[in-house]
Amino acid sequence: MATMVDVARRAGVSIATVSHVLNATRPVLPATRQAVLDAIDELGYTPNTLARSLVTSRTRSIGLAVSAISNPYFTEILQGVEAGALQHGYSLLIADPHDDPEHERKVVQLLHERRVDGMIIAPSAAPEGLLRLLAQHEVPTVFLDRLVDSPVGSSFRFDQVCTENTEPTAHLVTHLAERGHRRIALVAGLPGLSTTTERITGYRHGLAQAGLPHDERLVAHGNSQADAAEEATRGLLSLPAPPTALVTANNAMTIGALRALRGLRLSVPDDLALCCFDDFAWADLFTPRLTAISQPSKEIGAQAVRLLLDRLASPERTGRTLRLPSSFVHRTSCGCPDSSPEPEHHRKGPES
Ligand code: HPA
Repeated sequence: MATMVDVARRAGVSIATVSHVLNATRPVLPATRQAVLDAIDELGYTPNTLARSLVTSRTRSIGLAVSAISNPYFTEILQGVEAGALQHGYSLLIADPHDDPEHERKVVQLLHERRVDGMIIAPSAAPEGLLRLLAQHEVPTVFLDRLVDSPVGSSFRFDQVCTENTEPTAHLVTHLAERGHRRIALVAGLPGLSTTTERITGYRHGLAQAGLPHDERLVAHGNSQADAAEEATRGLLSLPAPPTALVTANNAMTIGALRALRGLRLSVPDDLALCCFDDFAWADLFTPRLTAISQPSKEIGAQAVRLLLDRLASPERTGRTLRLPSSFVHRTSCGCPDSSPEPEHHRKGPES
């Protein structure tokens, strides 16, 4: 197997120069750099990153812990993270904590044992143990999708990136109210996630903006999953005064709601108008086409990598939270005719 010495000899340069080209540690003249790259290519030289890690204490790897990887929303986030990591020469180690705090601590501990340089995590609904673990080992961390509070008295600094939740959900409600609906229900996500809390807040804001009363019975818990949402939707539709419109707070729960409607032989939008949080590939293929809030999932992943690399470069800087805008994709499940206007973009949130 070719070594760095072989590369240096073939290129006619010192071993230090080969090292500078490989690690971008010092500028190298373009012609010299090209000679080194040609020698690497001709000899099929493969750097031993394990050996390099022993010297640098860096593994050029990122740990990614995201639940429900099969959910297209999170799969697209993963694609954004992967593309950003690759662009900067980092590889990924991926784990699925299954939204279970204990499982989450276990997989994050394992990622730390592999000495990833930093982690990108979509935290569970009870992340206190996770935060203790990360703070104890001072792991450079970016949280995505779900926001967490810094533990009281802790100096642990981390960054976060998520999408706008409140105002877009309010918009779904006011849109349905503008179509004349007075009983608008919500199938809400897993309690304890910031996304769930913010979307419930948005639902309430939407009702208030439309001058509609808030009826607690119209908020059902779908726990962010299809099965629970199917059950929750059935419950809503068996109320003495059932809703005439429904907002589902994520893509999995939209599937559950649609299953419940099919089981009850009810049709959208005539029996129940429907607006969803999360757009996905098939949303346009249902009849009627689903009116939805689209999250910039790939961009969330890309920004998480950017924030993590920034933190690796400046470990002491204060934590930042980045909110990305989502967009309203106006289709027909809300009851509007097909000639609806093109997507309207939500205001970009501030970086704090
Ligand atoms: N958070 C935000 N959006 C989502 C989620 C989630 O956990 N699942 C599907 N869409």
